[in-house]
Amino acid sequence: MTSSLVQRLASGAPLGDPPAVVDVHGSAPPNPPEQLQVQFVGLSFEEAYAEAEAFVTAVAEELRACGHPGLRGSRVLDFGCGWGRISRLLLSEVPPQQLFAVDVDGEMTALVNVSLPGINAMTVPVTPPTVLRDASMDVVVAFSVFSHLSRAAHEAWARELARVVRPGGIVAITVLGEEFIDLVEGAQQLVRRGAADDFAASMATVFADVPAARAGFRADRLQFGATGGGGVRTEDYYGWAAVPRRFVERVWGDNGMEVVRWRPSGELFSQGLVVLVRSGDDAAARAVRRARRAVRHRAEVAVERLRRRAPAPLVAVARRFRGAPGTGTGTADQL
Ligand SMILES: C[S@@+](CC[C@H](N)C(=O)[O-])C[C@H]1O[C@@H](n2cnc3c(N)ncnc32)[C@H](O)[C@@H]1O
Repeated sequence: MTSSLVQRLASGAPLGDPPAVVDVHGSAPPNPPEQLQVQFVGLSFEEAYAEAEAFVTAVAEELRACGHPGLRGSRVLDFGCGWGRISRLLLSEVPPQQLFAVDVDGEMTALVNVSLPGINAMTVPVTPPTVLRDASMDVVVAFSVFSHLSRAAHEAWARELARVVRPGGIVAITVLGEEFIDLVEGAQQLVRRGAADDFAASMATVFADVPAARAGFRADRLQFGATGGGGVRTEDYYGWAAVPRRFVERVWGDNGMEVVRWRPSGELFSQGLVVLVRSGDDAAARAVRRARRAVRHRAEVAVERLRRRAPAPLVAVARRFRGAPGTGTGTADQL
């Protein structure tokens, strides 16, 4: 007599042929419902993919500039993959078996495994470590993930991603800068004038004390608004983060990663692109990196001061900042 579980399993419907491994050159993988796309990235269909393409293209260019062999032939980790739009674009270069997509949201990794059969999608804990081996990845990308993480989560995941990328390998992340604090301030002004829509009303709550957030940002401290983002994205680690360059340089630098490119928000897409290279770990290399960072920082602070003398009007900034995780609007998280 077999168990009821064995009998239930044996009675399952026949599956038919196993799904074919995804090939984006041959046909388009199925898309998730529009509402789900918007919920995670604030955009859908062509707009969502165009942003993903701009990111993946920029990463490929940076790889070339660093003398890296490129995406083709690399093992690539899509950290915080969501419903998989970045992975879809990566698949134009990266063979599915070389692509690893991870997220804290098990529903998203299940969706990615079903819609992009053949890639390696995996659910990771909110706090590292992952099961990925040391130096097992050539390239790690994280679009619109570090723009949402608390300071502690940012530090922990910087350490983990630096561990899994190989020496000479690259990590490309996106972040929000001080323009995000401008956005929150503008939203608060709209609320005071009674002119706020749902988006502005939700953004207005991100930082209770905007002057303090601005001062903290300018003192190189990450500014985190603990809104949460729904589901497993709880407010203890997830919300909105404005991330100063020096914070990134220090935290990632302490883990053997050097910033080789910083393209500010609005240049390529609504978030800034940061490219880091994993270098050697010896003390001399660290000291040289620290000295180079100090010189570069002084030059860049001067440039940034000039740039910020002509801030974009709120409405133009807001257009780039659709979506808000856990803001009560039930809409998107694009940043
Ligand atoms: C704004 S969405 C961006 C999704 C995707 N990168 C894109 O651009 O289409 C942020 C994603 O990061 C995931 N995430 C948040 N914290 C994470 C963590 N600690 N580890 C892995 N994924 C995380 C979220 O669940 C969500 O899917």
